[in-house]
Amino acid sequence: MKVDGRSYRTIWPSADGAGVEVIDQTLLPHRFATRRIDDLDAAVHAIASMVVRGAPLIGAAAAYGLALALRHDPSDAGLECAYGLLLRSRPTAVNLRYALDDVRSVVGGLAPKARADAAWRRAGEICDEDVELCQRIGQAGLPLIEDAHRRLGRPVNILTHCNAGWLATVDWGTATAPIYMAHDRGVPVHVFVDETRPRNQGAALTAFELGQHGVPHTIVADNAGGHLMQHGRVDLCIVGTDRVTARGDVANKIGTYLKALAARANHVPFYVALPHTTIDWTISDGLREIEIEERDAGEVTHMTGRLDNGEVARVMISAPGSPAANPAFDVTPAELVTGLITDRGVCAATSEGLAALFPERRAG
Ligand code: MRU
Repeated sequence: MKVDGRSYRTIWPSADGAGVEVIDQTLLPHRFATRRIDDLDAAVHAIASMVVRGAPLIGAAAAYGLALALRHDPSDAGLECAYGLLLRSRPTAVNLRYALDDVRSVVGGLAPKARADAAWRRAGEICDEDVELCQRIGQAGLPLIEDAHRRLGRPVNILTHCNAGWLATVDWGTATAPIYMAHDRGVPVHVFVDETRPRNQGAALTAFELGQHGVPHTIVADNAGGHLMQHGRVDLCIVGTDRVTARGDVANKIGTYLKALAARANHVPFYVALPHTTIDWTISDGLREIEIEERDAGEVTHMTGRLDNGEVARVMISAPGSPAANPAFDVTPAELVTGLITDRGVCAATSEGLAALFPERRAG
């Protein structure tokens, strides 16, 4: 997608081939800057500190991180150590584990001296595949927006949470892919963007990228969604996800569950967009089996923003001394999900729905 008219992906090999470059998402929307990742430590740090974030992008960054680690230590021990460090950098998004397993399975059987190049090639392929998966999600979800527009005869109001846009993937995004495609085809859309406290991925990132692409949107406080739905101002919700279980439970950014409850109470369709690399086929009960990342309480007690003098500053917004907790994700039970928009089409959020689209994963 474009930033100031120039096409970008969120991660790409640096010109000298010694590392990768990424868009530093901790600086957006106030400053657009790229950052280099040249070794394993930098990759782990970029993922943990959310310089790169979003389930598919975390996977892509981890794949490159493993390749960079193998340049320094291609031994079996080096491979396992790097795999473990990257795996632990963020626990909820399953894309991270899949990408690491993928690269490890490609290089594990090779002689150590051949590993780094093979891992680097595979990381690039994972990025290309992610772009294609997101495009397919867009094609699968587009008819939902086109149908709503035909039915309503006015712009379609879509609510989204967090950033499941191109910044969270390699390109296109998951929840945003159908929105960008609808917009590009002249289907009028308007997006309500949940600000998404505590880190404000909606206000900072989703609004930034929708604005860059010219998609009409309005940032709303996280608590506004229920009110908007009660008053018929949301036609459908589309969110992303960090992990979907085999029966369709959905882990996504904290606050998603509340939006799903409000959507159900107000008969608003609630869709979740995902590539198959976000499905964890090994688990079923999302509430019990998905590890929810607990992040630093400072993200709740403090906020970063731009002052009127242009300076970017971090300020405290809470009562001094009050403790804070920061669960970063929640689980929306499958029953609250109208449908899953995947790279193979739209299905019910059920074991049967997923198995019909992915028959090769059917148990037994
Ligand atoms: O903590 P983050 O910003 O990495 O969380 C991101 C989300 O929750 C996204 O909705 C999810 O990763 C889907 S990305 C296409």
